[in-house]
Amino acid sequence: MKLLLIGFGVVGQGLAEILRDKGAQLEQAHGFSATIVGVVTASKGSLYRADGLDIAALLAAAQSGCFDAYPEQAGLRRRLPAGEMIAAGSADVLVEMSPTNLESAQPALAICHQALDAGLHLALANKGPVALDYANLRDKARAKGLQLRYEATVMAGTPTMQLAEEALAGCEIRSARGILNGTTNYMLTQMEGGLSYAEALAQAQALGYAEADPSGDVEGWDAAGKVLILANALFGSSLAMADLDVSGITQISAADIAAAAAAGERYKLIAQATPAGGAVKARRLPLSDPLASVSGSTNAITLETDLLGDVTLIGAGAGKLETGSAILSDLLAIQRNARA
Ligand code: HSE
Repeated sequence: MKLLLIGFGVVGQGLAEILRDKGAQLEQAHGFSATIVGVVTASKGSLYRADGLDIAALLAAAQSGCFDAYPEQAGLRRRLPAGEMIAAGSADVLVEMSPTNLESAQPALAICHQALDAGLHLALANKGPVALDYANLRDKARAKGLQLRYEATVMAGTPTMQLAEEALAGCEIRSARGILNGTTNYMLTQMEGGLSYAEALAQAQALGYAEADPSGDVEGWDAAGKVLILANALFGSSLAMADLDVSGITQISAADIAAAAAAGERYKLIAQATPAGGAVKARRLPLSDPLASVSGSTNAITLETDLLGDVTLIGAGAGKLETGSAILSDLLAIQRNARA
């Protein structure tokens, strides 16, 4: 499988490390072998080689901050724009992992459409295109017999979308409710342990949980993007950000958290989606609420179904290998479905 990567930050490097470290195991267990033919970034430059880039050298160059440090290789092309890499025709799958833009989803959205037009499958960690243009991407992919996958966009590699869309395919899902942002859950947990808001945020950034612009996390927009993705994909809704009631944790002080603890309660940023709408809001939960014990960057979601009642999934919500693993899972699914 030949991959064209857009973005090579925390998630892209996580995926590359997984491919480097698990290559033999993936080949043996799944007959899966992936080659990175192109990487496009806004800050480090771009590299393209139809016969494949060297993953170790790519990671080393990324660590140095600039792809100029990637060694010369026969057939290597530097600074090629994404559109030209797509048009070059050697990639099978475009993996969109550039920073999420929840206002316009650009420039990623145009690149995703270009990739589908050119016959590439799509795997996204970038939430923007799925949150803002899901129906068009889905319809275009279906019309062309291509796969659109976005497991990484909600709860990192914890298989929320596969659970909802594949394992629960025979159920009607009536609502989704949970903790869908790793950064804020980590911060609230650390603040309960005595850290200040600023210290907790700095740690969440250092651990690779936060978005490039962390205001999206702390103001609730990242979780709201996930609410839109769930609403679009599970309920066939056409909700927009303006339809959601969104607030974050910026107003919550250490004193508020201490007061909640004294009352046997805990603040959690709770996201909710129903066919009619959605919300993201910090709520004080009693410790007896199962969501109150979901701590750190862990996320949780409860899907209310007609046949099974409530189904709850708890697992990683953010992080380098945790999100890289979601992309791997999508790539394996693309291979499986293409062979079926
Ligand atoms: N910034 C996001 C979070 C990353 O903290 O949950 C995963 O979507």
